[in-house]
Amino acid sequence: MATTIEQHEETKAKAEPELLGLLAEFDDPDELIEASMKVRDAGYRKWDTHTPFPLHGIDEAMGIKWTILPWIVAGCGLTGGTIAVGMQYFMNAVDYPFLISGKPLFSIPASIPITFELSVLLAAFGAFFGMLGLNQLPKLYNPIFKSDAFRRVTNDRFFISMDAKDAKFSEIDTGEFLKSLKPIHVEEFWSDTESAKLPRSLTLGLSLVGVVMLLSVGLVAYLRTTTSPNPRIHIIQDMDFQPSLKAQNTTNLFPDGREIRPNIKGTIPRGQFKDDNIPFYYGLKYLPEDQDVVVIALQDEKKADDKKATDKKAPTDKTPAEKPAAPAVVDPIAAKLDKLPWVTEFPVPVTEKLMARGKERYRIYCSACHGLGGEGDGLVSLRAMELLQGTWVKPASYHTANVRKLPIGRLYHSITNGVRKMPAYGSQVPPEDRWAIILYLKALQKSHQIDANTISEAEKRKLRDTK
Ligand code: HEC
Repeated sequence: MATTIEQHEETKAKAEPELLGLLAEFDDPDELIEASMKVRDAGYRKWDTHTPFPLHGIDEAMGIKWTILPWIVAGCGLTGGTIAVGMQYFMNAVDYPFLISGKPLFSIPASIPITFELSVLLAAFGAFFGMLGLNQLPKLYNPIFKSDAFRRVTNDRFFISMDAKDAKFSEIDTGEFLKSLKPIHVEEFWSDTESAKLPRSLTLGLSLVGVVMLLSVGLVAYLRTTTSPNPRIHIIQDMDFQPSLKAQNTTNLFPDGREIRPNIKGTIPRGQFKDDNIPFYYGLKYLPEDQDVVVIALQDEKKADDKKATDKKAPTDKTPAEKPAAPAVVDPIAAKLDKLPWVTEFPVPVTEKLMARGKERYRIYCSACHGLGGEGDGLVSLRAMELLQGTWVKPASYHTANVRKLPIGRLYHSITNGVRKMPAYGSQVPPEDRWAIILYLKALQKSHQIDANTISEAEKRKLRDTK
């Protein structure tokens, strides 16, 4: 033993090629398995077998233990899942709590997709890199490759390689031991003596690439911290620059420099001419002389608020006489609206088809807030009331005296432009459908006003039976 250790130290001191291990060659798989058992039983730890094809039983013969890879994968997967849940909890419930439709800030079902994805991702990384790490891969070169005999390992020969790093390894004893296994032959393999230096041309090329990379990083850093009066260099033009005019751009084509053109006086865009059917489009019998009132009422409630300061006459006009049930606080917009000549007759033919259409549209656009029966008990409203959100205004019931007395033109206006807290539906519901909805709304109102005594017994029974 002592002599071999000395030999080792000598070779190291002289920086000569180092003995890396011993290679034993067999020409029969069964012999290899038998030999492997002996090596295993002799207590060697750092050694390996090399075969042209997978050998049954070689794992047991070598005493290879179960891989710990599954534990690595499980660990990585759990780490991923924990990070995902923690991250989502921190972001959604702690760092940036944002209430959306009254949903909880953090909930498991909503967090499942990301948790699943991150668990799978980290588990896959664990499997891939764990496998590489445990196998000490990637290894581009192995000194055993220099052995001529070893080339037949992919063909018809079987090898045992003993690593010199094994605690039990000694050149002479291990050599003798290998010979006792009766291989075809045993040989040593040594570390390389050739210079590990890269070829000059490669070193130069790599340095050049390195310099270019540093330059580009430097350039990016420089450009990010400075400004330039020049536009960006636009290499791929696509169709990014076109002579067509855009809303917010300037041009010297027109004296005022604007690209967007104001309406020319006395003209109307195609499809926008509504004055030939004012009742249908505005819900008004005619456009009043004081067009301003209509514009204010129909388009800009804010302006009306500002105007009220200068225009003090309007609210006092005839409000007290006409509105016995007027609320204590006079809504200036409502006061103006009250004075407009709203239509009271439908400007479209009232048919069963229109009623059916109105019912369908009502259920799509209005019932969420106003409820199927128009009592102001839609599901959205119920939920909002349950959450006690301060900004929620309960939708009006259609069955109060105030709403019942509104002329249909006024209801049309409410749908088109919204009313106080109710949003406008003009952009979503075309005029024809607005009238259909109003027809259905009127029917709903009527359904709540019928005296039970005026209904025949047969009809009562029918109503009771229909669900
Ligand atoms: C987003 C919920 C919501 C939807 C959807 C909604 N409304 Fe309303 N509506 C309200 C609220 C809230 C009020 C009460 C407004 C107030 O008093 O500030 C209201 C009031 C009304 C009134 C009383 C109007 C008045 O002039 O005083 C009518 C009529 C009405 N809505 C009809 C409709 C119709 C028709 C639809 C479907 C096109 C509809 N609403 C859709 C919330 C809604």
